[in-house]
Amino acid sequence: MKFDVRALPETDSTQSELIRLAKAGAPEGTVVIARHQRAGRGRRGHVWWDEPGSSLLVSVLLRPSGPPAPAPQLSLLGGLAVAEALEGAVGVPARIRWPNDILVDDRKLGGILAEASSAASGRLEHVILGIGVNLNQTEFPDELRDRATSLRLLTGRRHAPDDVLAPILDTFDRRYGAWRAGGFGALREAWWRRAMRPGPPVRLPDGRLAVAVDVDDDGALLVRVGEGPLVRVLSGEPVEEGAPRAPRH
Ligand code: BTN
Repeated sequence: MKFDVRALPETDSTQSELIRLAKAGAPEGTVVIARHQRAGRGRRGHVWWDEPGSSLLVSVLLRPSGPPAPAPQLSLLGGLAVAEALEGAVGVPARIRWPNDILVDDRKLGGILAEASSAASGRLEHVILGIGVNLNQTEFPDELRDRATSLRLLTGRRHAPDDVLAPILDTFDRRYGAWRAGGFGALREAWWRRAMRPGPPVRLPDGRLAVAVDVDDDGALLVRVGEGPLVRVLSGEPVEEGAPRAPRH
């Protein structure tokens, strides 16, 4: 894929900026990166906090053809690519907490947000994959302090956004090519190897807590409640022990 990277000093959200460009016809591979977001978005309606110049804040426009609704798979793919790229380029042992948190030593280093848009006909128009990575923070707001980390805290040195963007885009491109050719099945093993195991319990939509035992070729998490049968889960929340309920990062 050819990437066309547009760098902004600040924006409301790189997701919103790229949605505007996508609606105006921007091609797959258009990338928006910003030093600061005034209204960064996390998953499930959470705010994504940043300190200007301290984070990688980037969104990538994808226009996959073929079967509908690949957004959950693309967000798993994004998490895998970011974790692999950070380990390869910086040497941090990055793991994935389902669905797509990037953790090192049980602290959140980054997150992925996939937002899909479909036409009235149901045809998928685009998926915007947002990636946030904490680079140079040495302090976090109170509610994140015990749960977040940054590359600087992990390595003791500063990291420029461009130094991590190139490996992330390269790795993403390779994994996206494999996904287009073979679906999530082509990534399943690599994803599962990198996932936190045992991960935290997963809260099902009906409120019960389940334990992840595998991921399938469609990218669904296979979980079990007690000794019960396997249940396929496409979205949900890991339970963070002792974590305050909001805001999340
Ligand atoms: C999460 O909740 O873990 C996902 C966070 C995703 C944050 C990134 S930062 C770049 C892009 N723009 C946004 O507004 N959000 C995503």
